[in-house]
Amino acid sequence: DWIMGNYIDEAVAKIREQVGDEEVILGLSGGVDSSVAAALIHRAIGDQLTCVFVDHGLLRLNEGDMVMEMFAGKLHAKVIRVDASELFLGQLAGVTDPEKKRKIIGGLFVDVFKAEAAKLKAGDGGHKGATFLAQGTIYPDVVESGGTKTKKATTIKSHHNVGGLPEQLGLKLLEPLRELFKDEVRELGVALGLPPEMVYRHPFPGPGLGVRILGEVKKEFADLLRRADAIFIEELRNTRDEATGKTWYELTSQAFTVFLPVKSVGVMGDGRTYDYVVALRAVQTSDFMTADWAELPYSLLKRTSGRIINEVRGINRVTYDVSSKPPATIEWE
Ligand code: XMP
Repeated sequence: DWIMGNYIDEAVAKIREQVGDEEVILGLSGGVDSSVAAALIHRAIGDQLTCVFVDHGLLRLNEGDMVMEMFAGKLHAKVIRVDASELFLGQLAGVTDPEKKRKIIGGLFVDVFKAEAAKLKAGDGGHKGATFLAQGTIYPDVVESGGTKTKKATTIKSHHNVGGLPEQLGLKLLEPLRELFKDEVRELGVALGLPPEMVYRHPFPGPGLGVRILGEVKKEFADLLRRADAIFIEELRNTRDEATGKTWYELTSQAFTVFLPVKSVGVMGDGRTYDYVVALRAVQTSDFMTADWAELPYSLLKRTSGRIINEVRGINRVTYDVSSKPPATIEWE
């Protein structure tokens, strides 16, 4: 609509004024905030923006390709995809403790991004080098880091934290979404031409599938989990609730599959199977601090479980997580 159109014009003018003819680096994660920031900054300064997309190998099925297709393909933005999956899997080998896993993933992520950013800052023959680091910081993030929100006394889980990067890299900060709430960011994303499925996605944790594979992360487990999860999400997107007309993807705040590294016995055809178990998790919440498990229709659960067991060889049992938060957390690690 025209109000959003005006907003875009103003935001674009502001970015152009702030950046001038300098160059900008942005860490693209595929999440809503960094995606919308990238689309907006690209609208303003085109090729003066370079996005760095660190693929840690713990993304959902085809996610990396979809991010590239959207930004490099459709928007014609400059995107560097860093395939760091071997590095991450290598460092995670043998590690089972959830907090250790989180620290390794978060730390490596920052290292890989910093190395790329340093190269872009240095520039090369034709390039004078980047001077800005763009971040998809939104208003609630600003409020939180200002200490306005009361900090919890105990840390339940250490989150990915990229604070302090601009200083460490010696880059100026560009944060065009600083004044916007999440809903406004989503509207802006749609107005900039991002697909609504991307802009209205459920949140996805920084450590990705690393916290949805219990215990040691292995490529084999990640591959099985990716396929099972894609089936669950597809069924949620394709099943509508008659009363509201909404899909079950829309009716849940977050939904995903968890890989359990235990084997159980099953029967398939005339044979015995001894394969892995997954848990489906779907919650409804307004703030993610507390959450109820979603009362998904049995028919949806039945279809999902049937498809996973039939289509994903290596998984022979599907369970549904009926734990609310608290005392359970949303993610299993
Ligand atoms: P829990 O599992 O603590 O999760 O109930 C609450 C919300 O936070 C998300 N989450 C993360 N998001 N980096 C993120 O960006 C992280 O390290 C992280 N860990 C959990 C989780 O998916 C849920 O939406």
